[in-house]
Amino acid sequence: MSSHGAPMPMLSRKCASLKGEANVPGDKSISHRSLILGALSIGETRITGLLEGQDVLDTGRAMQAFGAEVQDLGQGNWRVQGVGVGGFAEPDHVIDCGNSGTGVRLIMGAMATCPITATFSGDASLNSRPMARVTDPLALFGAQAVGREGGRLPMTIVGARTPVPAHYTVPVPSAQVKSAVLLAGLNAPGETVVVEKEATRDHTERMLAGFGAQISTEVTNEGRIITLQGQPELKPQDIVVPRDPSSAAFPVCAALITEGSDVLVPNIGLNPTRAGLFTTLKEMGADLNYENLREEGGEPVADLRARFSPDLKGISVPPDRAASMIDEYPVLSVVAAFASGTTEMRGVRELRVKESDRIDAMAKGLRAAGITVEEGEDWWTVEGRGFGEVRGGATVESRLDHRIAMSFLILGMASEKPMTVDDGGPIATSFPIFESLMGGLGALIERV
Ligand code: S3P
Repeated sequence: MSSHGAPMPMLSRKCASLKGEANVPGDKSISHRSLILGALSIGETRITGLLEGQDVLDTGRAMQAFGAEVQDLGQGNWRVQGVGVGGFAEPDHVIDCGNSGTGVRLIMGAMATCPITATFSGDASLNSRPMARVTDPLALFGAQAVGREGGRLPMTIVGARTPVPAHYTVPVPSAQVKSAVLLAGLNAPGETVVVEKEATRDHTERMLAGFGAQISTEVTNEGRIITLQGQPELKPQDIVVPRDPSSAAFPVCAALITEGSDVLVPNIGLNPTRAGLFTTLKEMGADLNYENLREEGGEPVADLRARFSPDLKGISVPPDRAASMIDEYPVLSVVAAFASGTTEMRGVRELRVKESDRIDAMAKGLRAAGITVEEGEDWWTVEGRGFGEVRGGATVESRLDHRIAMSFLILGMASEKPMTVDDGGPIATSFPIFESLMGGLGALIERV
C-alpha cells in the first residue's frame, strides 16, 4: 500500500542510454532540520531549495502544529516564523509523521524538554520502527514516553517540566538519535554532551552552529564528543539547501550500468559524512568524476559526472564507511549485480530497521531477478553477474520504502527483462520528480 492512496505499480525496461543533466531535489536531512531549527528560532528563517517531498512536508505541518508559521512561497522557497527554544505550543491533534523516521525522531527530541504533551503516529512502516533508541535518552532529560509494545508508534511524549541536561553515548550509529538528544539539549539548562563512537552525518551540529548555538565537537580515541550549551537564543537564518547526495545516487548508478550513458548531476553536497557511496563506486572502477569541486556554505560541493562503466569489480566495502552511505546500500547492491566478482557489505545491521528491512527487501528482489545474495544479521554479499548478464524480469515489493522502489527501477533500466515494483508511491517521500527526471535522461519507466 502506498502511504498516500492506492498502490501504484511501476515498471522499468532496458533503455538505450542515459544522457543529460540530472537536477536532483534538495537534501532531505537538511530540509527537515531547516524547518525544525527555523521553528526553534526567534524570527523569520528563509529556506531556498527545500525538498518538497512528503517526509519534509509532514515535518512542516508538524512545526505548524507546535505553533510555528510555515509558509510555502513557491518554487522551493519557504518561510518559517519561529517560536524560539522552549516556545513550542501543545498540539491539539496527533502529529502524523507519515513515513519519516528522521521527522518523528528529531521532533520528539525538540519537544521533549518543553512542558507539553504530544502524540506521534505514522504509516505502517514508521509505526513498526524502533523508537526506544530515542525515548531512552530523552528520559534522561526528564521526558516520559508511552507507546506500543516494543517502543513503537503511536506514542505519546510528556515533555519534561523542569528539564535537566544529559550526557549520552549513542549505542548505535545514528544521526537521528544524536540529533534528537542535541535538540532536546537546546531547552535544558547547562551542557548536554553526546558521544558517538562512529561518525554519522553532522548536519545538526553544523546547522546549530549556524543558528548561533554554542556547540563544539572534539574528536578523540573514544569517538566524537559533542558539547552543546543549553538555552541559547537561536537566530533565524537564510538557508540554501544543497542537493541530496542520496538522491544523486540513483541517476549516478543508473548511468554506470546503462550502456553509452553520460550524465551530469550538478551541485551535489559531498560532506564526508554522506559521500561514502561515491568513494565505493570509484573503488569498484566506476567512471565517476567530481567536476568543479568547490566550497559552498562551508560544505564541499561538486558536479558529479557518471559514465557507463562496463568493467566494474565487486569489492569489500569497509564497515567503518557504513554510516556515510547507510541509505545507499540498496542502490549499491544493484550496481554490484552488474559488476564482476562479489561485493561484501558488512557492519550494516542498521539496514534492518530502516523504512523496511533493507537487506531482506533487496535480497528477495535481487534473487527474483536472478542474482545470488547471501546474508547474515549485519552483513550481505551480492554475487555480480557482470554487465549484460543480469536477467531481471521480476515483480518485487517496495514495502513502503522509497529507496527499495527506486533501486529496483534502476535495475530494470539495464537488465534483460523489465522490473516491476508493486508500489512506486513511496518514491514521493524523498524524490517526487524521480520519474520525470529519469525519463528526461532517457529511462523507460511506466506506471502499470
Ligand atoms: C538521517 C539519518 C539516517 C538516515 C536517514 C536520515 C538523518 O538514519 O538513514 O535517512 O537525517 O539524520 P539513522 O541516523 O537512524 O542511521
